[in-house]
Amino acid sequence: MKEIQIETKLSVFESFDELSQSEKEYMNQAIEIRKKAYAPYSKFQVGAAIVLDNGMVLQGSNQENAAYPSGLCAERVVIFYAGANYPNNKIVKLFITATPSDRDSENPIPPCGSCRQSIAEYEIKQDLPIEIYFMGAKGEVYKSDSLKNLLPFMFDKSNL
Ligand code: THU
Repeated sequence: MKEIQIETKLSVFESFDELSQSEKEYMNQAIEIRKKAYAPYSKFQVGAAIVLDNGMVLQGSNQENAAYPSGLCAERVVIFYAGANYPNNKIVKLFITATPSDRDSENPIPPCGSCRQSIAEYEIKQDLPIEIYFMGAKGEVYKSDSLKNLLPFMFDKSNL
């Protein structure tokens, strides 16, 4: 018997203020769209902003439904929109912010497993790592240089 050990890596910014000017602008777009999330059931609001290789920024928020599983996370709302409308552009960065609507979360909120799997599909398709930044409403911002750091040992087309 042998063991496989998988390492991962994240960068940690102490706060929003530590981001560069452009990073702040992109995260602000995620914050702005988070506030418009349709989350009447969970009251947990998530905003996501994607930066394409042509400089365009796309925004999405979580969209809930009375039939709970029919709702969709912010990250998938925006990444599927990018895939549908800009199939030939690469996704360079993804900014995420999430918090309960009645308080400001201070913990960085990572994308859920299903979103990681969906993001992985596009990272592999475009053969370019997607930089992923995520935060609560305030506090630390985590950055991953690639989706691979968030989903080690992933299932992808090479497994089919
Ligand atoms: N949610 C997201 O939008 N992204 C995630 O990665 C995790 C969860 C949404 C789904 C649901 O509307 C609410 O947050 C509570 O789970």
